Amino acid sequence: MGDHNATIEPDVELKGHEETPESNASAVQDGPIDKLEASDTHSAHDGAEPSEEKRPILQPDDAAPGQAASAAAGDHGADDASVGAPSVFSTGLNIDDSSDGDSSIGDIDRPSSSVSATSSVFDFVEEHGRTFHRYKAGKYLLPNDIPERERLDLQHAIAMRLFGKLTLTPVDNPPRVLDVGTGTGIWAIEFANEHPASDVLGTDLSPIQPEYVPPNCHFEVDDAEDVWVFNHKFDFIHSRYMVAAFSDWPKVFQSCYDNLNPGGWVEFQEYYVEFQCIDDTLAGTALERWNKLILEAVAKTGRNGRAAARFRSQLTAAGFVDVVERKFALPGNSWAKGENEKMLGLMQMTNMLDGLHGMSMQLFTRILGWSTEAVELFLVDVRKDYRNRDIHFYYIVYDVYGRKPVE
Ligand SMILES: C[S@@+](CC[C@H](N)C(=O)[O-])C[C@H]1O[C@@H](n2cnc3c(N)ncnc32)[C@H](O)[C@@H]1O
Repeated sequence: MGDHNATIEPDVELKGHEETPESNASAVQDGPIDKLEASDTHSAHDGAEPSEEKRPILQPDDAAPGQAASAAAGDHGADDASVGAPSVFSTGLNIDDSSDGDSSIGDIDRPSSSVSATSSVFDFVEEHGRTFHRYKAGKYLLPNDIPERERLDLQHAIAMRLFGKLTLTPVDNPPRVLDVGTGTGIWAIEFANEHPASDVLGTDLSPIQPEYVPPNCHFEVDDAEDVWVFNHKFDFIHSRYMVAAFSDWPKVFQSCYDNLNPGGWVEFQEYYVEFQCIDDTLAGTALERWNKLILEAVAKTGRNGRAAARFRSQLTAAGFVDVVERKFALPGNSWAKGENEKMLGLMQMTNMLDGLHGMSMQLFTRILGWSTEAVELFLVDVRKDYRNRDIHFYYIVYDVYGRKPVE
């Protein structure tokens, strides 16, 4: 912690940063905490996948009593119980105030779009020039076309850089694995490749997975909020980025519990959709307004953009043991100091710029009643803010896992 503090600029150091690792561990995690390396360590990094020790991770430098209390009590807690105000957490992120940014990263401008379309996407429901799933049409509001699939694969690359590996769960070679809401199936395919002895099933509302996959990987169209009907139980159930999908998380957790073998593991990797900022540069921006409106619209559809803050207590309430919650800070663009943080920020900015239209159009028009033109106009300003390195915003990404008791 001492080395870490030495690199923090006084003007961006967050309250409570001097806490000991021991107090951090007891406040937030049941398991070990990886410390964020000093930012100058990152700048020496060679650009390869970060090692586990170098991942940016949120460290609670002050007690998070709400979270600790709710986890212990097994209740569902408040949405922000384990997030707290940014002032009581250290993100490990520092502003890069050099004029040219990290030259090793190159131009911070968004790369030219790789959007493309093929006739096959018209097998699905079409609206606003995008396509959507046909099975249970209208249930999930994000598109499933090729631009969205490319975005999902970019999100996977971000997750791999952020978490350092496919899973933080201490699984070895689980015989049967389920990836719920698998999207393009990229996580399931890579897990199957890494674990040839595992049989991996990915389920999704959309059949958007590739045809040629490892022999130990399969996909099925399924609604994970329905009653689960599988002809066997699983040893590891994984799910990622489903916050805009599920409205009843305790029900999903119960389905996981009921469909795991004793001793089996479950893991959820999830965005906390409300932006965080290390200072006041987000206040009053179009970006902040967009974020609030998205949270409002998502809430009106019966989902909760802040759901991840409750996972730990809800998994505990469902009967899981050895539940571990870890939080990672993901910069919104390349404002943060350090090569790895800058690359993560660039990737996330591209992800969001690519996803902005798909995420906003249905929610703003159908749920908030905006006209298409008004949304397009508003997104012009939101895009500008996404690229603005003077706005020091970041996302919290949760990884929460637990085990079904052996008995
Ligand atoms: C943001 S994507 C995440 C995809 C994948 N987990 C990943 O991390 O790359 C959400 C996925 O959940 C799927 N989905 C939404 N609601 C679902 C449901 N009720 N049951 C199964 N899949 C669902 C969507 O079709 C979409 O592919």
